[in-house]
Amino acid sequence: MNRRPRRNRQSEVIRNMVQETSLSLNDFIYPLFIIEGQNQRIDVASMPGIARFSTDTLLDEVHSCVELGLKTFAPFPSIPESLKDKYATESHNPDGLFPRAIREIKKNFPEVVLMTDVAMDPYSSDGHDGIVENDEVINDETLEVLGKMALVQAQAGADIVGPSDMMDGRVGHIRRVLDENGFTKTGIMAYTAKYASAFYGPFRDALDSAPKKGDKKTYQMNPANSREALIEAELDTAEGADFLMVKPALAYLDVIKMLRENSHLPIAAYNVSGEYAMIKAAAQNGWLDAEKGMVEVLLSIKRAGADIILSYFAKEFAQYLKK
Ligand code: PBG
Repeated sequence: MNRRPRRNRQSEVIRNMVQETSLSLNDFIYPLFIIEGQNQRIDVASMPGIARFSTDTLLDEVHSCVELGLKTFAPFPSIPESLKDKYATESHNPDGLFPRAIREIKKNFPEVVLMTDVAMDPYSSDGHDGIVENDEVINDETLEVLGKMALVQAQAGADIVGPSDMMDGRVGHIRRVLDENGFTKTGIMAYTAKYASAFYGPFRDALDSAPKKGDKKTYQMNPANSREALIEAELDTAEGADFLMVKPALAYLDVIKMLRENSHLPIAAYNVSGEYAMIKAAAQNGWLDAEKGMVEVLLSIKRAGADIILSYFAKEFAQYLKK
């Protein structure tokens, strides 16, 4: 035998030398859940290790993450039912929970980068990402709301806005609104290939944002499709996106790879709530090692071609690197 692949696996130093993919804290965006109130830290039952924070305790959480070397966060607000309506009016209230939290974080940690979610669902009494009329999520009227929401977030200090709604034309519309108001430096991370997935379940628990009726299949992508992701990528790129995202990550590694090979923009992948919960639940049952599972899954996303990973594991991974 003159070819023996095992020669390059025989010691840790050699294995490290030939390692093709590695993870750095620079790759990560850590999602954070925000609630009203004071001194609150409420665990999310379906996401062990993840909690919802009031703005004061949130600052402590951001501080501990910054100490570990995390620099970029994706905050999401949980809005009380009483403030939700059909048009997600609260989503563009400049004094609402979300803009207040963004201002607090940026005031206390000016070096931190915030990527904020633009979609109606946390504020919508219908629990949909757009305006519902006659049981239909209507596109163009929704763009108006998304534009206002993105502007309020940018004014509060968001560095990058992340439209996660999957309406047609939203990246172009948001870009226009931001530019017209002088926010030419605010970036857009488009949720480009966002699939209608079962893996968002724990997130919708955390924010009480599940659709009251129906599903999201008329706007989020069909899990059976990959070519369609290229159409979305072409549109988002033409409309001015600075980053493209694939979501979820694990069941769509092929899509991450395809976008990486077909675009010159940075590609992000969202390792979503259900993917996190799956590993945590199996580990709690003693069925697998959570830490090894975490590292393997994160590596797979990077190996598939993601430059950026949004993950609930980000903090734990930072702690793991410290050890
Ligand atoms: C809202 C939004 C969702 C997620 C991020 N932004 C849920 C959804 O589309 O229903 C899911 C994130 C996760 O599951 O971790 N548009």
